[in-house]
Amino acid sequence: MRKLIVAAVAILAGVAGANAQSYPTRAITLIVPFAAGGPADITGRVVADQFSRLLGQQVVVENVVGAGGTTGITRAARANPDGYTLALGHMGTHAAALALYPNLAYNPVSDFEPIGLVAEQPMLLVTRKDLPPNNLKEFVAYAKANEAKLNMAHAGVGSVSHTGCLLLNDAIGIKTTMVPFTGTAPALNALIAGQVDYVCDPILGPLPHVRAGTIKAQAVATAKRHPALPDVPTSAEGGLPQFAAAPFYAVFAPKGTPQPVLDRLVAALNTALDDEAARKRLVDLGAEIAEKDRRGPAALTALVKSEIARLTPILEAANRK
Ligand code: MLT
Repeated sequence: MRKLIVAAVAILAGVAGANAQSYPTRAITLIVPFAAGGPADITGRVVADQFSRLLGQQVVVENVVGAGGTTGITRAARANPDGYTLALGHMGTHAAALALYPNLAYNPVSDFEPIGLVAEQPMLLVTRKDLPPNNLKEFVAYAKANEAKLNMAHAGVGSVSHTGCLLLNDAIGIKTTMVPFTGTAPALNALIAGQVDYVCDPILGPLPHVRAGTIKAQAVATAKRHPALPDVPTSAEGGLPQFAAAPFYAVFAPKGTPQPVLDRLVAALNTALDDEAARKRLVDLGAEIAEKDRRGPAALTALVKSEIARLTPILEAANRK
């Protein structure tokens, strides 16, 4: 009996190994946990196009929205770990959410196989174009005087737009009305329509609208001015260095995905990040692509852990569960 079991296990292992070697043999789903047209979706579609080309199978983006991105990431965590379901996670879903959701259905570290960092995306504070302030100092004074009537739009509790504006509000010392959307693309539509007053969004989303003059950029939440918007001052120049964020966007697979499959995905992402067209698409929109020394599973694991360690005390102190 024991010999039979050993033989069966060996055969099954062989089949799994063979399957992993021939991976992929059918379409792959990349879960993007926010609405189409936002920074996560744009980043996810660049990765999906590159993976389709490099892996020889269609990679289909599925926007699974809700609960600040945690609905889609929960689905990815529970998916069959066979390489046919992947997820685009970020600073919100894989770090901030842990402090903000007492019953988060997944562990950002132990429930995933990290594939690699794609890019970091400096955050912009943008306002509707007819809001009186024209820079961060004026925004701070205006927000203090009009706290009760200001509406901040975001992509759900724990999203990076929510976390970014929590940092901003806490630095100013205000609590404003928070209006959740399924992603920052619909949040920006509401901003353009003048239905909400301000949004904190990674640069990929608001840049075209700022350039078109349909919304105003008040500050970039990084230490240096951004080359895509050199006239927009930094948060430190505006007197709020605590408002600092350049959220990461990265690819994850469910825990237990076979190593040969992970190896193919890691190699494909590495090649994708050197592709000229992919780089241009992301860089033109303001993203900072992961350079060689920051790519791959080990660097992403370290990044997720360090972001959890950085954000948890800040968000717990703000008591925003
Ligand atoms: C989006 O793609 O809609 C944003 O990245 C979501 C967010 O604010 O986290």
